Amino acid sequence: AIAQLIDEQMAVEDWPKEFFEVGDNIYQSDLLLSSRLTAGEGLQSTFARGLKETLSEIDQSGLRGRGGAGFKTAMKWRFCAEESEQERYVVCNADEGEPGTFKDRVLLNSYADHVFEGMTICAALIGAKRGFLYLRGEYLHLYHKLENVLEQRRQNGLLGNNILGKGLDFDIEICLGAGAYICGEESALIESLEGKCGIPRNRPPYPVSQGYLNKPTVVNNVETFAATANIALHGGAWFAAKGTEKSQGTKILSISGDCARPGIYEYPFGVTIRKILEDCDAHDVLGVQIGGPSGTFISNQELDRILGFEDLATGGSFIVFNSTRNILDIVRNFTDFFAHESCGFCTPCRVGTSLLKKQLDKIVDGHGSAGDVVALEELTRLVKNHSHCGLGQTAANPIIHTLERYPDLYQSQLKKISYEPGFDLNASLE
Ligand code: NAI
Ligand code: SF4
Repeated sequence: AIAQLIDEQMAVEDWPKEFFEVGDNIYQSDLLLSSRLTAGEGLQSTFARGLKETLSEIDQSGLRGRGGAGFKTAMKWRFCAEESEQERYVVCNADEGEPGTFKDRVLLNSYADHVFEGMTICAALIGAKRGFLYLRGEYLHLYHKLENVLEQRRQNGLLGNNILGKGLDFDIEICLGAGAYICGEESALIESLEGKCGIPRNRPPYPVSQGYLNKPTVVNNVETFAATANIALHGGAWFAAKGTEKSQGTKILSISGDCARPGIYEYPFGVTIRKILEDCDAHDVLGVQIGGPSGTFISNQELDRILGFEDLATGGSFIVFNSTRNILDIVRNFTDFFAHESCGFCTPCRVGTSLLKKQLDKIVDGHGSAGDVVALEELTRLVKNHSHCGLGQTAANPIIHTLERYPDLYQSQLKKISYEPGFDLNASLE
């Protein structure tokens, strides 16, 4: 329907209202999305059990960072708590920018107390007094709602001074991003929080030792904090009972693309891609982009692979493509995205992503030779291996993954050199 409006050249302001009313569409819930945690319950359990014991529960739960990279949460919090510097911070990364990811928006819209509770538990465990929710600029519509939740928590003694009478002083501030994808990278996010341009820092040192204002800082994703609040309430074993040996618990997915039921799904790790596609009613599948453009593209021959850090990790993006789609168009779109979002700080990414786009365009538009495909492969290696941060290091993934799976597709686009019968090349040169 949107394509039709665009064809009819209708101005966006005149589009029907329902196009802008995005519902939460939760189709499948498990541990987190069906949890009935009420504000304060996770904190009360934390104080009742003891701070050290709660950190042990989080450790036993096996929880790993839900932003995509999967660093062990308890280890990150312990590293931060062990720093000698006493001024510490908690940052929730709600700059959900990976194309196809919208599950943090749903968590903030419907489960904000879980997120803020997780941040407060983290503050108690690491000894922080200030926290920040770094909210994606495009989620401005959530700002007042979230401010109201924070105010309610202050009134209920769950934020501010002497929380629940236990001597914990902690408050949370919401800071808005301004639309740059790179500010989802944790050190660029911290720069932005400090009022500077969002350029990624060198890591190490990691934020746990030198983060906001160069003080020890825990940065975690929205879903990670929501999970910790629930683990504090229900215990580590409750969480670890789901998932696989290497990937415990559940993962919340944002499913979009060619399926009849796009929306939010929560699965225990270890679920097959085939099962997810059945649930979201996807047919005639060509491939699935898991973890967004920076993640992995899998073909329809790999649907028995599983969701998990040991196989297919994802921050939450799951985009389905059916056979009406042109893979090279998809790759062009993603490559264009990275070239546009490169922050420009380092040359391999600033120049490399533009060259990738140019070289890909040349091949897909039918002007390339076999040597151009080789040059494209070399360029992917250069950008991946020499870029300063994760954006550049993953920007070539869509090309790399599709070159591996569909080499013939690239070959089929190459310039066709035809010789007319009787055509004398030497004579024409003379
Ligand atoms: P990373 O593996 O470098 O770090 C992951 C986390 O562990 C960070 O918080 C880092 O500070 C911490 N860490 C790593 N080693 C540490 C150490 N030795 N000591 C203390 N802390 C340590 O991954 P990165 O670059 O932070 O994130 C990449 C991930 O982000 C990718 O998986 C990508 O899919 C995902 N991503 C998610 C997006 C979203 O919208 N959710 C957007 C773009 C990327
Ligand atoms: Fe910026 Fe790209 Fe370099 Fe990262 S890799 S610092 S996004 S130019």
